[in-house]
Amino acid sequence: MKPEELRKAFLDFFEKKGHEIVASSSLIPADPTSLFTSAGMQQFVPYLSGKVKPSYKRACSIQKCFRTGDLDEVGNAWHHTFFEMLGNWSFGDYFKEGAIDFALEFLTKDLKIPKEKLWVSVFKGEKEIPKDAKSIKVWQSRGIKREKISEFGMSENFWGPVGREGPCGPCSEVFYDLTGKPCEKGPPTISGGGCRPNCECDRFVEIWNLVFMEYNKDEKGRFEKLPEKNVDTGIGFERLLAVLQGKNSDYETDLFFPIIRGIQNQCSKKYEKNKREFRILADHLRGAAFLISEGVLPSNVEQGYVLRRILRRSIRYAKILDLPKNWYVEPAKRISEIYGDEYPEVRTKQENIITGIQREQEKFGKALERGLRQFEKLLEVKRVKIITGKEVFDLYQNYGFPLELTEELAKEKGFKVDKVGFKTELKTHKEISRAGAPKKFGGIGIEQVESKEEREKAKRLHTATHLLQAALREILGKHVKQMGSDITPERLRFDFSHPEKLTPEEIKKVENLVNEKIREDLIVKKEEMSFKEVLKSDVLAFFKEKYPEKVTVYSIVERSGKVFSKEVCGGPHVERTSTLGIFKIVKESPCGTGVRRIRAILK
Ligand code: ALA
Repeated sequence: MKPEELRKAFLDFFEKKGHEIVASSSLIPADPTSLFTSAGMQQFVPYLSGKVKPSYKRACSIQKCFRTGDLDEVGNAWHHTFFEMLGNWSFGDYFKEGAIDFALEFLTKDLKIPKEKLWVSVFKGEKEIPKDAKSIKVWQSRGIKREKISEFGMSENFWGPVGREGPCGPCSEVFYDLTGKPCEKGPPTISGGGCRPNCECDRFVEIWNLVFMEYNKDEKGRFEKLPEKNVDTGIGFERLLAVLQGKNSDYETDLFFPIIRGIQNQCSKKYEKNKREFRILADHLRGAAFLISEGVLPSNVEQGYVLRRILRRSIRYAKILDLPKNWYVEPAKRISEIYGDEYPEVRTKQENIITGIQREQEKFGKALERGLRQFEKLLEVKRVKIITGKEVFDLYQNYGFPLELTEELAKEKGFKVDKVGFKTELKTHKEISRAGAPKKFGGIGIEQVESKEEREKAKRLHTATHLLQAALREILGKHVKQMGSDITPERLRFDFSHPEKLTPEEIKKVENLVNEKIREDLIVKKEEMSFKEVLKSDVLAFFKEKYPEKVTVYSIVERSGKVFSKEVCGGPHVERTSTLGIFKIVKESPCGTGVRRIRAILK
């Protein structure tokens, strides 16, 4: 079965079963409490939590996902950063029986996977959540033998919430038996031992997770029942495809192998002998392509930092495989061929993807060699197998080594790194740099050296960005939301959700409104609010990290007392808008699907 056939079979099946087909949401979630969309359910959290009533009771989707938690495992047969998740949902409609029946019917009837190949796991009960006896019964009554039903606790069979709080519940996972033979642990036992799903050997691969979402976890860690019983499921698309294509790894399917071949063609090393390296490169390149296609660029914060980490890691592996400088060009083209029909942004942004990687390669390629020499030198004189925080920081600052890269290098040599020490160094460094002390940078440092004047300029542009967002929402509509922002002393850049190109009239109106608010000399007010209050109010928040308890909110208030703009923001901002001068939009351009980018200056 081809990838596109499997996607279609899945959507057709669930559509026939009364599910609304919902498009994948962005990899950068609208809910700013998490950095990436890592599961199909994220866009449905308001429905699952019962806060918003959906117009449909059943939904299905193919969701672009990105996970950083599995980074160390990328390189084995089944793990990725980017992946696609096929999911179906019930919002207070069908529950355990329905979800199990759909899963079995799709796998065994539509995809013709023999039922004998399927094993399952269920929640055995832990803390105040009871054992899922119902699912055991249902699986058994549908012909899955008791010895193929294993029970596990919270760590394996309880899913969610995505952040600290939210909908969650016990889950039942479906596994495919690749070999049909137990490992040396022997056959499974009812009491829990033996070779069974989640065994460390390569016998089973998890293909589908059925979550029975009937709980909400609050921020104190307490579970309460949700108003409705929901179902949230997720199939690892690459894994199911591998099973259907008879492969022992996702990396050998049509989704990956052309990328791997594109790399292999450029070097003398072979995939068979260097699987891990090839897989890491193919995975990270695919992940980077999807992130860049959504407007993420390498940086030292948030999504940009993750992108930087995977790119710098790839650059190191490219060196290990002895690949030429432009090793990523061919594979990047393959990625756009493989995914362009399903995700047009990967095709339309192909050039951005290639130049994005090229820039990072230029920045880091040379520093990597020097840094590796420095790293070797460090190890030579060590008696204790620890790399100090200061040394890690030195590699970070002078050679652009992300902490995780140093950790990986250290691990390979049997060393540990002092992470806490590194973070203290980083913090001290930031404080010193804020105080304006001179610094040394290798062109890849964490912050630009800023003069006082530059800082003032950036501050004015920062306030202008808030005025711009408020004006866009007023002129274009409340669907406008910040998707990204970058400020230099010269200009601001603001990415926001909006489906189409702005007309010259709209641009003029936005500009005029911002300038009007500048002329009115409004006061910029700063206050502290609890995160809870923010969620309840209409304050705009563009968080991509975990929420802190208390946040700073900046408001720009009109003379009448009406709030023109109110955003969660770390600042700094000017005190009065009249100091901004004249606001001018210099460019408006597309930036990913449904996202526009504005560049503007202050004169
Ligand atoms: N939300 C569930 C998962 O990600 C289906 O595994």
